[in-house]
Amino acid sequence: EKGGYDHFMLKEIYEQPSAIKDTYRGRMLVDEAIIKMAGVEDNMKKFLNANRIIIVACGTSWHAGLVAEYIFEDLARIPVEVEYASEFRYRNPVITEKDVVIAISQSGETADTLAAIKLAKSKGAFVFGVCNVVGSSIARETNAGAYTHAGPEIGVASTKAFTTQITLLTLIALRLARANGTISSSDFRHHLIELEMIPEKVKKTLESEAHIKMIADIYKDVHHFLYLGRGYNFPVALEGALKLKEISYIHAEGYPAAEMKHGPIALIDENMPIVVIATKRGHYEKVVSNIQEIKSRKGKIIGIVTEGDVEVKALADHVIEVPETLESLSPLLTTIPLQLLSYHIAVMLNRNVDQPRNLAKSVTVE
Ligand code: F6R
Repeated sequence: EKGGYDHFMLKEIYEQPSAIKDTYRGRMLVDEAIIKMAGVEDNMKKFLNANRIIIVACGTSWHAGLVAEYIFEDLARIPVEVEYASEFRYRNPVITEKDVVIAISQSGETADTLAAIKLAKSKGAFVFGVCNVVGSSIARETNAGAYTHAGPEIGVASTKAFTTQITLLTLIALRLARANGTISSSDFRHHLIELEMIPEKVKKTLESEAHIKMIADIYKDVHHFLYLGRGYNFPVALEGALKLKEISYIHAEGYPAAEMKHGPIALIDENMPIVVIATKRGHYEKVVSNIQEIKSRKGKIIGIVTEGDVEVKALADHVIEVPETLESLSPLLTTIPLQLLSYHIAVMLNRNVDQPRNLAKSVTVE
């Protein structure tokens, strides 16, 4: 059932090329330059007339929501707010019929997300679900939605659910951008072509596993990790830190790289490994200068870089390469090495990778 892999988590990491394909199959027609999803087409007016989109989710799904915030605002020019479902439901939020709420949930059973949906519906908002589990409570409770089609995710740590959520939300953002006229037809087509190449590029990224395992072995005994990223890759830094915490039990924090100097830089010494997402495009020069600041304080840098990178390579202690892509699609690649790094550290520490202590796959109580 684990298909020859030692753990479900590793199997699911390796399923990502096909899972991402399954998410866009039939919805993205590259030759015709069309994106079509019934749940979006049928409710196009609601999306286009929305004052804003509020995304509600928990955990890794909330991180996918943060990536979506960048892509919706950047491409479709629709204001987006991303909320922890648990906070949203209890803080008397201002919601009206002019709001569209997107609820993201792999399991479709997360209690706080379900409660946030019910609250939003009671205020007259249109609620759209992005779920993986077909027929789940959230899929049934929402007004409309689209499934990620990632297939069953058994490992408690979410992997393919995250990348397929981002894929689906990217399709929605592109579709709305086209309808809004905020993206040119050539740029739209370019995005589709690049998205179609992502599964192959994920496969290529997975080939770094042995190298990542070697890095895992060097750092497996440290007690703290930092993860940094900017722009589209800020949420990836948060997700990388969460993945390490939950399966290895090593303390890790994710930050936007520029926030370093507002506090966390005090933590840096020769014992602190810092994973920095430093791909080309996406504020590259600024990230390079953040890396220089860390190096001058003797921190250890593990850089996630674009193939052929030289600048970061010259500064970092280790680099892991990912193929080049559009900045907006880069989280689909930069996430992969972070999943593998957490996985291998956890395995080396003899952790129960698929069922970490104190965690459940669906959090059906608040
Ligand atoms: C992290 C993880 C959790 C879930 C969160 C939301 O790896 O699995 O943080 O992402 O509990 O779950 P869903 O997406 O099922 O609502």
